[in-house]
Amino acid sequence: MSDIDVLVSEVGPRDGLQNTKQFMPTEYKKKWITAAAAAGLREIEVCSFVPPKLIPQMIDAAEVVAHALTIPGLTVAVLAPNLKGSLRAMEARVHKITLPISVSHAHSLSNVRKTPDQAVEEARRICTARDELPAAQRPKIEAGLSTVFGCTIQGEVKESEVVRLAIACVEAGCDEIGLADSVGHANPQQIRRVYRLVQAEVGGRLAGLHLHNTRGLGLANVVAALEIGVRTFDASLGGLGGCPFAPGATGNIVTEDLVFMLEAMGYRTGIDLDKLIAVRSLLVESIPGEPLYGYVAAAGVSNKDFAPASQRK
Ligand code: COA
Ligand code: ZN
Repeated sequence: MSDIDVLVSEVGPRDGLQNTKQFMPTEYKKKWITAAAAAGLREIEVCSFVPPKLIPQMIDAAEVVAHALTIPGLTVAVLAPNLKGSLRAMEARVHKITLPISVSHAHSLSNVRKTPDQAVEEARRICTARDELPAAQRPKIEAGLSTVFGCTIQGEVKESEVVRLAIACVEAGCDEIGLADSVGHANPQQIRRVYRLVQAEVGGRLAGLHLHNTRGLGLANVVAALEIGVRTFDASLGGLGGCPFAPGATGNIVTEDLVFMLEAMGYRTGIDLDKLIAVRSLLVESIPGEPLYGYVAAAGVSNKDFAPASQRK
């Protein structure tokens, strides 16, 4: 039986850093990952395997993965946009690869220069490559369906397309489907409706939600999702984040605020809020001036001020 009720997956080193102006020195990326794991995070998306010419921040991806793999019990996740990136990730022996598959045709072309259906075909090639590895070395492959709830380039995204592509990704061999509100368009009703529509087709393969807080509805969307049984959420320390290829995208939901809310509501995350908030200082030191968000850190809330579920007897 698990000792946590909700898995909080930290995506700051990937979603956050792909969007910051300054390069975070490799040593700081390693310190961040170490400190986040020590605060209790069980899964961290540590980088992406993209062309360094496109996103120079990710030039040290293999070194960052090698470090993260030394941390016992940590699930080392990465993002890879194509076969080449996935092969690099598999060579680095990551535990999980998320493939960004945009439901919006326009965002898909902007982000990976492929249509959504071409991206699914690439996912099929990636799954074939995974299957050729010895069983113990096969990473979990998640299709991270993005712009599921709306797109700043194309506007509306059809729910029927979300469902169609989710089914296609499972059929292509992906282990899991995640739904991403890449540009923060979702509202709580929509979260419940779309999640259930996809779940009705792919069942237990539907995993977590990746939410951005662009319009301030991030945590409201989490509550809606909790009510229908979602138990995995991506979040980013200090609310860093955003897609450089989706205009108007701002940061992810803030890990510290999410952890506070979950623990206060009685969901065990396994994460120590004080230790997590302390990790912010590494960001302030290494990428100074980069805006950091979060109500809980600003308010100075500490473990002592409430009854964290993870510490209740
Ligand atoms: N890692 C490293 N190098 C890569 C690579 C990868 N994952 N994918 C492609 N390359 C290299 C190729 O080898 C080629 O190098 P060369 O010019 O020295 O021959 C060059 O990049 C162009 O390759 P190509 O296959 O034509 O890619 P592209 O220019 O059409 O770009 C993507 C396609 C998918 C690689 C690119 O659009 C991308 O990385 N998108 C993801 C963006 C992102 O991270 N968005 C935010 C997260 S959702
Ligand atoms: Zn994102």
